[in-house]
Amino acid sequence: MQRRDVLKALGAAGLAQAFPLSALATGPDDTFQAFRRARQRHAWLAGWESVDRTVLPRTAVDVTGDWPAALRGSFYRNGPGLFDRSGQRYQHWFDGDGLLQAWRIGESGITHQARMIGTTKFVDEEQAGRFLYNAAGTEIPDARPVRNADGSNTANTAVMPLDGDLYALWEGGSAWEVDPDTLESRGAKTWREGLEAVPFSAHPLFEADGSVWNFGSAAYIGGGTVLIWRIDARGRLQSITPLDVGHRGYVHSFTMTDRHLLVMLAPLMLESELRGPYFDSLRWRPDQASKLLIIDKNDPSRPRHVDLPAGMVFHWADAYEQGGDIVLAGAWSSSGDLINSAFKGVMRGEPIHDDAPSALTEFRIDSAGRSRITTVSSLPVEFPEFDRRFSAAGGRTYLLAQPQANDSDYLDTVVAVDRTTGSTQQYRYGDHHMAEEHRFVPRPGSSTRDDGWLIGTAMDYRNGRTLLSVFDARRVADGPIAQARLNRTLPLSFHACFVAT
Ligand SMILES: [Fe+2]
Repeated sequence: MQRRDVLKALGAAGLAQAFPLSALATGPDDTFQAFRRARQRHAWLAGWESVDRTVLPRTAVDVTGDWPAALRGSFYRNGPGLFDRSGQRYQHWFDGDGLLQAWRIGESGITHQARMIGTTKFVDEEQAGRFLYNAAGTEIPDARPVRNADGSNTANTAVMPLDGDLYALWEGGSAWEVDPDTLESRGAKTWREGLEAVPFSAHPLFEADGSVWNFGSAAYIGGGTVLIWRIDARGRLQSITPLDVGHRGYVHSFTMTDRHLLVMLAPLMLESELRGPYFDSLRWRPDQASKLLIIDKNDPSRPRHVDLPAGMVFHWADAYEQGGDIVLAGAWSSSGDLINSAFKGVMRGEPIHDDAPSALTEFRIDSAGRSRITTVSSLPVEFPEFDRRFSAAGGRTYLLAQPQANDSDYLDTVVAVDRTTGSTQQYRYGDHHMAEEHRFVPRPGSSTRDDGWLIGTAMDYRNGRTLLSVFDARRVADGPIAQARLNRTLPLSFHACFVAT
């Protein structure tokens, strides 16, 4: 489609209202002061404290245990890494500028490096020594206007490898290309001229041939359109399809079967008129249904939908089709309030307490559109993962969980749920740890489901360390088979990927 058609579909007239510039923030220093006071009492708040330098050079780390010889490559992590400048602190976790980390796993050992992602926004603000642009959850006094969504792009959510290139992903604008070795910025990625700053979500999905599906939600710029991106394994845009779903709300991720893309439109909706920061304009509407879009991969332009109970899924696990049914699983919560309660509170130094923790939940949709919903495990969980080589019933779902109370109220346990037997394995890092997303890495040459490793990091905040752990994916309860140890903490990241060498 042509540029003007995409912009029209996105409601380009709303761009200027995307990040309102009118109101002046009142007392942003309150957040900064509250966090600083709380930080003195709580070591776990290291997870939400700004990184103390822009570049952390490659550093060798200690390894204990027997690291698998076949597990070689780069483990990239991305997440918000800078939350305050000159005494002004962001009011929402998702606002922080992206910090990209790379753990390099080679024959001669393991190294760690990190770098703040050099977005336009970050470079400008680094030079100015203060925040200049409004963020999705914070208004900045005397903010400068932005030309388009990439003027606010923090590239802070996930990381996507594609055809030897690497992209730091945000939700409301372009993928941000970075050098896979140095982590230096290469700039916003425009997949085709005229598609500058068009939303490209942080949760793309890969086909077995290496090609990519993604969606983009125009809700970030006030519109009701969901875009479906199709990119081949060489990084060439194949199509972009706007779906006028009339959903001016928050969509974080999606899942897919062999035949269908599945996008849940939860009733976390923008108020009729955007006032103030984007997140402040979102309202949870429990009286409204969640709408599951079922999009035919061969004809994305005409989705059908089924209604589900009001609920929020930040992250999906696997999906497959069985006897005419569509089955999908995700970390489902009965409420979307978290986005404007705990994710703001933690910026002031309050624990991320969730009144409606998400649980691994399976949805079975029959050909008549009827749904059956099953709670697979009642553990409070997030960050589902699975062996993505397979898309049929019967594998494991790997998650992070918080099975018992802890100081931080954050995830501290790795869980593997066998979806056939229902049996669960757990490994809890310990009382003073917070775990970050773990990813499944297939054993090279294997073709058996779940034959591989689970790799991920955890912060030991009592001892000021970050641990990179590798588990045999079938024996999670045995604990890590090897660990690398970085003698410092870093802000908690959201998402990770592994690129084998
Ligand atoms: Fe996410």
